[in-house]
Amino acid sequence: MIDTALADLGRRLTALGLTERAVKQCFGVPALAHLPRALPHRSDPGDKAPRAAAVVWLLCAGRAFPLDAMRELFGADLARLADLGVLAIDGARVHARYALAPLGGGIAVCDRLDHAGADAVMWPDDSSHHLVGALPLARVARWLDVGSGAAIVPIAAPGRATAIRASDVAPRAIELAALGVALSGLEHVTLRVADLCAGAGGEWNLITFNAPIPAEAGGPAGEPAHRRAPAGARVLERFWAEARDAVSPTGEVIVHSWVPNDPLALTADLPGAVAVMRYAREPGFAITAWRPGAPPSRKVVDVTLTEAAPHVVRVDVDRALAG
Ligand SMILES: C[S@@+](CC[C@H](N)C(=O)[O-])C[C@H]1O[C@@H](n2cnc3c(N)ncnc32)[C@H](O)[C@@H]1O
Repeated sequence: MIDTALADLGRRLTALGLTERAVKQCFGVPALAHLPRALPHRSDPGDKAPRAAAVVWLLCAGRAFPLDAMRELFGADLARLADLGVLAIDGARVHARYALAPLGGGIAVCDRLDHAGADAVMWPDDSSHHLVGALPLARVARWLDVGSGAAIVPIAAPGRATAIRASDVAPRAIELAALGVALSGLEHVTLRVADLCAGAGGEWNLITFNAPIPAEAGGPAGEPAHRRAPAGARVLERFWAEARDAVSPTGEVIVHSWVPNDPLALTADLPGAVAVMRYAREPGFAITAWRPGAPPSRKVVDVTLTEAAPHVVRVDVDRALAG
């Protein structure tokens, strides 16, 4: 059931200027993922920052502001956000304990950008944007998002399914996802702590997974070490085996992952159509799409990303799957 108090709070935060567009404009980035890299180069807005800037510097970038200014900005919501553990009042200053990521019309709750622990619930990164970009545009009935983290992908694209199950092996991720889903007012997203597809049952029309990066893959330039999983390659093997049982025969599976030199190696045994949209080599990173019920085909496409089009998009997937 929808928590109307939290959904209203989310709407008020959006009205105060916590929007994806505002974050991109304020920090001069084309996508939320680039905020951590841009931040060290932005000039500090000062304690007397205009309201719109203060909202995103406080809630997204982690800057502390004077208590008086934050009382004026948030009114009674300051105490609500402190009760929720999102904000902390520290003497005469207020800081955010988490980072709020405005995505589409919703808000995801992640760890702060300066949280370097291995258990960090990640702020959207390029991989999140690649996966969102690759989603089918038409609404499906049932969508399973595995390794959902803060439920970034469902929160960014909640209209793509009538019912969504978002799960992650990390209980902290699901705790933060629950707050984000509530602030986003999403009634049709169910959250579970689960290892891959365990307990999800079958007949999913869409299954998505933004897989952890295996330590052996190195990682894209600038990728923090804590985002890599020592058993990442094995996780992918297990995922593909489980997805086979969980997906509907007419469904689709979309994965963002590291791919080996032979990008089709991990999906070689699958029936139907597999297309790999590889956007980086050495190490290889790609979106892999699988339609079990489509006529058998295998395709690897190298996608060129540009500054204007920095992420894989659905047209890339449709073209590749169409052969
Ligand atoms: C690269 S992050 C993706 C987070 C989010 N889906 C996104 O796109 O921004 C990978 C996520 O997979 C989760 N994960 C790792 N191993 C898992 C497993 N065996 N079962 C479920 N989730 C797992 C991690 O906890 C992490 O949240």
